[in-house]
Amino acid sequence: MVDTVSAHRQPGKVFADMAITNIGQLLTMNPGKGPKRGAEAQDLGIIENAFLASHEGKVVACGPQAVFSEKVELAAGATVTDARGKVVAPGFIDSHTHVVFAGWRGEEYGMRSRGASYLEIAAQGGGIMSTVRATRAASKEELIQRTLGFLDEMLSLGTTSCEAKSGYGLNLETEIKQLEVIQECNRLHPIDLVPTFMGAHAFPPEFKQDRKAYIDEVIRMLEPVRSRNLARFADVFCDVGNFTLEESRLILEEARKHGFELKIHADELENTGATELACELGAVSCDHLIKVSQEGIDMLAGSDTIAVLLPATSSFLGEFPGAPGRKLLDSGAAVAIATDFNPGTCTAMSIPLCMTLACSALGFSPEEAFVAATWNAAWAAGLGGTAGGFGQGFAMDAVIFDTNNYLDVPYRFGTNLVDTVIKAGKPVRSKNNK
Ligand code: NIG
Ligand code: FE
Repeated sequence: MVDTVSAHRQPGKVFADMAITNIGQLLTMNPGKGPKRGAEAQDLGIIENAFLASHEGKVVACGPQAVFSEKVELAAGATVTDARGKVVAPGFIDSHTHVVFAGWRGEEYGMRSRGASYLEIAAQGGGIMSTVRATRAASKEELIQRTLGFLDEMLSLGTTSCEAKSGYGLNLETEIKQLEVIQECNRLHPIDLVPTFMGAHAFPPEFKQDRKAYIDEVIRMLEPVRSRNLARFADVFCDVGNFTLEESRLILEEARKHGFELKIHADELENTGATELACELGAVSCDHLIKVSQEGIDMLAGSDTIAVLLPATSSFLGEFPGAPGRKLLDSGAAVAIATDFNPGTCTAMSIPLCMTLACSALGFSPEEAFVAATWNAAWAAGLGGTAGGFGQGFAMDAVIFDTNNYLDVPYRFGTNLVDTVIKAGKPVRSKNNK
């Protein structure tokens, strides 16, 4: 199949300023409507011996290499990258990260390895609060430089778009600071960032005795965040030791009234019914689901809410195997995978690592892992229909992998197979020129 656009200069040809040629396996993701479920979530839409062409950052055509010169007119000075038989896939979309933070928490990892639980550490003032103290103390410029460094690493691992949450401020000033860092990094870095307001990440100590007062404070933050267009989504950590179901509902309903789309950290540490709440509220995604109930799975299967699974987090927390991935996939739920990159529960930024864990621990097939990290991830990040696949008009965000077999991406566990990353039609990373 060859897609064509009407605006061409030579009759019957599409005009392109960028092309990747001689692709061994092009994973188009077979762009359709909405997130993929069931058998569709196995379909990578592979074209062998293929080309992929774009103009001004958007895909204009793909198809068999044999028809490339017949179908594509290259602009003078066009960038043509010869893939020499390698695999090309859409850039990964990391639909759940906490990428803006100061400090690390290695000592807590040591404590957890010796048997302390995540909640015990949090109760002693560590956990999220430790990162909140560091993030409040850091300057905006420090946070920008740090975040840009993390984004560089993500890009080198094949991520081209990324959701990014606030939630290490827990007061208006620092929440806004984090969201402005996201805005600035989005401007400065090739990775596209989708911002999420997560003032409801934890109760700060100054409000520990008065939960209601902090909930009111989070609700008060919604207006300034929204009116400055600093976040598209609002997210709540609905779990034991954090926000109850009723508190989460209150915050999310208010957020929706302010025009936020919704996400929930759901059923991570214990089952609280947060997945059911996410479906009831029409949340775009509910994330974690390590302890999701059968009722939660059934509701997800019948809803548009995407189950975002974070297998690096569950592994890092020692929660094996993790979320019931196979059950969710078999139920017909739409499933994405993401890193959850943060200093407490997941220090990994690698989507290929998450794909391996999804296959080895959660029961995904490699094909399902690819769909979950690209096409479905785009929907979870609010980028559905514009990225995560190679449909006409989609972002030319592509990764060339140093292999001729896409199975190697999850299989070659721990090796970075990314050869070249193309963002909006421009090569932005290559192995020989990092
Ligand atoms: O997604 N669950 C809540 N938030 C993060 C952890 C944040 C932290 O520990 O700093 C998560 O796991
Ligand atoms: Fe998270």
